[in-house]
Amino acid sequence: MSIVMNASLATQVKDHPAYHPGLEGVIAGESALCLVDEGEAGLLYRGYPIRDLAEHSMFEEIAYLLLFGHLPNQKELTEFSADLVDNAVLPRLLEVFLGAVPSSAHPMDIVRTGVSLLGMADADAADHSHDANVRKSVRLLAQLPLVIATSYRLMNGKPRVRPRENLSVAENLLYLLTGRMEDDQAKAMARVLDVSLTLYAEHEFNASTFAARVTASTMTDLYSAITSAIGALKGPLHGGANEAVAEMFLDIGSRERAEMWVREALAKKHRIMGFGHRVLKKGDARSVIIQRHAESLSRICGDHRWYEIATTVDHVMEQEKGLHPNLDFYTAVAYLLMGIPRVLYTPLFVCSRIAGWCAHVIEQQDHNRLMRPRALYTGPPKREYVPLDRRT
Ligand SMILES: CC(C)(COP(=O)(O)OP(=O)(O)OC[C@H]1O[C@@H](n2cnc3c(N)ncnc32)[C@H](O)[C@@H]1OP(=O)(O)O)[C@@H](O)C(=O)NCCC(=O)NCCS
Repeated sequence: MSIVMNASLATQVKDHPAYHPGLEGVIAGESALCLVDEGEAGLLYRGYPIRDLAEHSMFEEIAYLLLFGHLPNQKELTEFSADLVDNAVLPRLLEVFLGAVPSSAHPMDIVRTGVSLLGMADADAADHSHDANVRKSVRLLAQLPLVIATSYRLMNGKPRVRPRENLSVAENLLYLLTGRMEDDQAKAMARVLDVSLTLYAEHEFNASTFAARVTASTMTDLYSAITSAIGALKGPLHGGANEAVAEMFLDIGSRERAEMWVREALAKKHRIMGFGHRVLKKGDARSVIIQRHAESLSRICGDHRWYEIATTVDHVMEQEKGLHPNLDFYTAVAYLLMGIPRVLYTPLFVCSRIAGWCAHVIEQQDHNRLMRPRALYTGPPKREYVPLDRRT
């Protein structure tokens, strides 16, 4: 399909009906991992409805499902959990790096660079076989919480802590990031954190996953693909939205100010973070689930402030823009209640989505076709070259 250089853009678009800015609605590949459907099917991970998974499973089962293709039985889950514990160790190179990170660094930059270094320290890095990719994925699942928690603690003058062997991924994350573990409130928080990890784990060809697959399609190593994904996730139109939502709640401060705040922001044509979705125009099934948990956690903590601000913003957005909250919106309420530092919200998303990203990289490299789309040329038509000494 050759492009006529001097044709107008309008003619080119007419000649190329397959062109969709932002790849909106374009099917860019096949995947057996996840179905994102606005209809009755809703969101499914490998065929299982997200509602059932969030209600009955823990994040470890979801990660196993995505990486190995089936839900684990008890023996498989026990072995997988033990594998995660065994792999929760950082190579010396990482420890040195984390000790040298400046306190001004954003944790997303640290985790992106950290994954890159983990690749450098992994003898398996260049092996693209299915089994090696699975082994590397398990290591990343185990190591990422440690990268995030260690760097945050060191930057804030706190000593390193080790994850506890008897805790789940979510319980360990809560413990590593907030020090909370055993009281009833902490148990309720860990359960909601676990649900949020399940909901964040996979979402088809979103920007970061697509970035991972494009990179993986060159048959480079898994770490390079995940580094690409983390860079894409950092942006406020994608994963960075959960941190931005919490900042909005803090800026609003009280339920009384919420309505005016949103109306003023909309009048200035600002985007309200945590609303809208490129695919889910009728609402996000994940948001309904996390909203329920955010409400019950507010009750358990005896702190309704964030939930009340959120529901007021939600109401005004529905009224004014007909837009629905996405997963990031009520997740921010839950994370605020847990006392998780705001800059760690998007890194927490990484700790979960790493399962989906890795499963996509494995799927891509198991059945690879290099991704190489075309561009619609909008530059000047063919023109004559002018040597340097004749240029004005
Ligand atoms: C996610 C997002 C990029 C999807 O965008 P999209 O489907 O491509 O929609 P568009 O950018 O084409 O916007 C369509 C219209 O809705 C409006 N809109 C979309 N999201 C909006 C938001 N969060 N707040 C206010 N208006 C919004 C746009 O301004 C535009 O209005 P207009 O037609 O009057 O100009 C967008 O909804 C957004 O920026 N959301 C906030 C960031 C966020 O929460 N990201 C996490 C996604 S899971």
